[in-house]
Amino acid sequence: MTLPDEVTIVEVGPRDGLQNEPGVVATDVKVEFVDRLARTGVKVVETTSFVHPKWVPQLADGAEVYATITPVEGVRYPVLVPNERGLNDALQAGVRDVAVFAAASEAFSAKNLNRSIDESLEMFAPVIRRAAADGLGVRGYVSMAWGCPYQGHVPVEDVVRVSAELAELGCDEICLGDTIGVGAVGEVHRVVSRVAAEIGHDRLAVHMHDTYGQGLANTLAAFEAGVTVADTSAGGLGGCPYAKGAKGNLATEDLVYALDRSGVRTGIDLEAVLETTAWMAGELGRPPASRVAEAILASRAGDGA
Ligand code: HMG
Ligand code: MG
Repeated sequence: MTLPDEVTIVEVGPRDGLQNEPGVVATDVKVEFVDRLARTGVKVVETTSFVHPKWVPQLADGAEVYATITPVEGVRYPVLVPNERGLNDALQAGVRDVAVFAAASEAFSAKNLNRSIDESLEMFAPVIRRAAADGLGVRGYVSMAWGCPYQGHVPVEDVVRVSAELAELGCDEICLGDTIGVGAVGEVHRVVSRVAAEIGHDRLAVHMHDTYGQGLANTLAAFEAGVTVADTSAGGLGGCPYAKGAKGNLATEDLVYALDRSGVRTGIDLEAVLETTAWMAGELGRPPASRVAEAILASRAGDGA
């Protein structure tokens, strides 16, 4: 297996991790989650969303969260924005990195954005243009890149088309999402290679949910295929309220553990991530979904540590 010497992990726990949480998570807990994560050595913490609060009530306090965090130098704090209204609110809050989120599946685009794929790209175009003109970092997600719960199979051509259009509109990073975690290694290689052939490897990121336990293998497969940016969430929190059956993202500690032991640099302190995961599990009142957290935290409990 040939892995890169160094990769960038994007921590999405405070956004993807919390957006699907059924119980209300207090604003100060979200802020502490972001601040703890930012002190683990991670370079990017996706912090919240500026979407319609009726669509994602859990993140209705996005502006307050953003205003209250304690920025760590060198860490970026992107937020999701679907439209110009969201961008305006984000700019007013002082945000410097945004992400728009398209899909390769028409059915999911309708459910998640109330729009066809082409209509969503029309909605994103002025957001991307204005954000880029203001010097913001702009990521474009392509959800359902490996399958959709409403449509089933998603042709790779659709993933390539949406990725290329987002890149053409001015996104500086394209992130392929396995939103419901159904993909497997061979398909990861195929989709990543096809998209990279259009837009290059250096603008590509992956975002693997772990529903079928494939998140780690799939992320490593993407690294082998030349990608060097991947999303994870501490404790494996996450899911999308508009994608039935979607479980959490690949856990940050699962990926950091694998990369540490493979000699791949992330800049992230595994111990600090585990502490954050254990703290958040206490706040949410349930154990983390991560196998690494389970193994290490349980062995410590056994030690009386
Ligand atoms: P819509 O109902 O079509 O909106 O929703 P609209 O444009 O018709 O506007 C209706 C009203 O909403 C208007 O108010 C707007 O001002 C207001 P009114 O005039 O009726 O009083 N409005 C807003 N308010 C606050 N903030 C905004 C905003 N926009 C409009 N930004 C919309 C369209 C895009 C807004 C809606 O569908 C939406 O908010 N969707 C967000 C869904 C979402 O956040 N899903 C989860 C994130 S995606 C994900 O998790 C996948 C990912 O992790 C990758 C992967 O796993 O693959 C990223
Ligand atoms: Mg997601």
